[in-house]
Amino acid sequence: MKLKVIIMRKRLAAGNWKMNMTPSQAKSFISEIKPLLADADSEVLFFVPAIDIQAALAAAEGSNIQIGAENFFYEDKGAYTGEISLDMIRDTGAEYVLMGHSERRTIFGESDEWINKKLLKAIEYGMKPMVCCGESLEIREAGNTLGWIEAQIRSAFTGVSAADAANVVIAYEPIWAIGTGKVATTDQAQEVCGMIRKLIADIYDADTAEKIRILYGGSVSPENAAELFAQPDIDGGLVGGASLKTSFEKIAKA
Ligand code: PGA
Repeated sequence: MKLKVIIMRKRLAAGNWKMNMTPSQAKSFISEIKPLLADADSEVLFFVPAIDIQAALAAAEGSNIQIGAENFFYEDKGAYTGEISLDMIRDTGAEYVLMGHSERRTIFGESDEWINKKLLKAIEYGMKPMVCCGESLEIREAGNTLGWIEAQIRSAFTGVSAADAANVVIAYEPIWAIGTGKVATTDQAQEVCGMIRKLIADIYDADTAEKIRILYGGSVSPENAAELFAQPDIDGGLVGGASLKTSFEKIAKA
């Protein structure tokens, strides 16, 4: 008899502070939320601005809170004024790095090609990558959501091995739900996250698809988190606005 091995994916509650919090504010916020998150069963992570990383890491020391970088450049080093390399981030002790967020794509012009380069570089540096994808309202209304997401994922994972892909976290964030208070319905979120898992099985294999974690992001709040995270293909959330408040505790425990 062949036994099916069930892989339990560890839930992940990730905050994305965006361009908020000074280093001093980062220090006091992490110190304040640290005891509240101590008994969370999920993995807890905050993506913070680069200048806050060290203060946040120092405040999080000895706790279950992980700190990640919201952005980096894919070159190793050199004449890239204002940019931050993975070598610099890794040296701080931060492990997670975020890429492909819709704000980076639309405001700063980051292309699918860049996101692929960033993912390959993050893997090379042994970081824990989180790759975002998501459609605009226009694409959704035209009925092109699944094709759009598939193209973003296929491009981001070009040249990535199955073993490395299994350790990547994917965050599905419909652009129309980001910062708008207009959360996707659980059916909409599950449909796309389920499609992404099938796509990973198609690109790689069923085992990789079972292992990879897929998050939902876009107006996640303490009120809607539990229902979203109860969906079979949603392994947690990427949380913007609500990660700036200590009530993020409720999302991490949802
Ligand atoms: P939001 O942002 O939770 O404020 O909608 C989510 C994100 O941009 O990651």
